Amino acid sequence: METAPGRGFELMRLMHALKPHISVERAFFGAGAIGALPGVLRDLGVAKALIVTDRGVAASGIAERVRILIEGAPVAAAVFDATDPEPGAEVPDGIAARYRNEQIGCVVGLGGGSCLDTAKAVGIMLAHGGTLREYLGPDKIYRPGLPVVLVPTTSGTGSEATPNALFIVDGEKQAVLSRHIMPTAAIIDPELTLTAPAPVTAASGLDALVHAVETYTSLGATAVTEMYSLRAVELIAGSIRSAVWRGSDLAARTDMALGSYLAGVAIANAGTGAVHALAYPLGGKYRVAHGVANALMFPYVTEWNIPSDMRKFATLARAIGEPIDGLSLHDAAFKFLSGIEAIIEDVGVPRSLDDVGIPRSELGALVEGAAKQTRLLKNNPRVLSKDDMATIYTKAWR
Ligand SMILES: [Fe+2]
Repeated sequence: METAPGRGFELMRLMHALKPHISVERAFFGAGAIGALPGVLRDLGVAKALIVTDRGVAASGIAERVRILIEGAPVAAAVFDATDPEPGAEVPDGIAARYRNEQIGCVVGLGGGSCLDTAKAVGIMLAHGGTLREYLGPDKIYRPGLPVVLVPTTSGTGSEATPNALFIVDGEKQAVLSRHIMPTAAIIDPELTLTAPAPVTAASGLDALVHAVETYTSLGATAVTEMYSLRAVELIAGSIRSAVWRGSDLAARTDMALGSYLAGVAIANAGTGAVHALAYPLGGKYRVAHGVANALMFPYVTEWNIPSDMRKFATLARAIGEPIDGLSLHDAAFKFLSGIEAIIEDVGVPRSLDDVGIPRSELGALVEGAAKQTRLLKNNPRVLSKDDMATIYTKAWR
């Protein structure tokens, strides 16, 4: 029997792969996991590695520690320690130009999301040449680049588990999206996050929480990604306050690091949604830190989304520790909203678009910017028109 025209495609579209099909080849986790780095480099058989990091990580002494570890492998190490917090195309372009003739065999990304994303792009550009702009968008890369080992020093982006790298190009957040920028190995050592200051821990931790929630309610979620997302929600909600306000708490830092990684795996396979879509314009033009931008949009997008999937939001309420026994499904689902409001309040990030210097006259531009993020909006459990986006932004000037 033949399939009716269009029917086969429709079935393909509706079919979900149950295995998390995009995942990092090797992942090491736990206090002291950084000790696995020399062995990983030896297994790759490289003679020289380029560490891509930033000044904060260099100032903390972590970059030097990692350089010594690499040289003990023994593998020669070069260090680039001037990555930007919200990098533009010029950052990876500049690094690739500078190290093109240095026989780099492997890139080690060390730091927060911007360092890791920059390392992913540099790994492609050192292998295949070109500039970042040529790789922006989905599936513009046809072969693997240099091996890339990612070592996060914050618990937030989950970049060590995703095939995405984000840059601000032409005033907008734009992404390189390709399975060829999946890292070769991820080394997640919560001890490396112990010195992250409270504001960084709060912003990156809320980014991770948003990843966990948005992937859980994503229209691209599967039974398998939901497990990753829900566990990530439990871990992050249960530890973020301690990680922020008692930074030396290794148990809290460990839960945050695991939650962030699990949420990253969920991003790679289920995608994020409207919180990210509405947050990106805040980062693009106004350079609001990604985690802060997400935290600003999170309650209002959640309030919008809850009626679309009350069962899932009630489950999320339970996962963040809200008492929901005996409540109606409606009340249980909305407990999630008050629960995340309390978390955001408790960790002390800006609560209003006024606080980050965005004037109300920008409303139209923000809506236009968010509406372009169709790759994210298509995952959101409830459709948003431009008018709906305007309503949500307006609530965030509170
Ligand atoms: Fe994010």
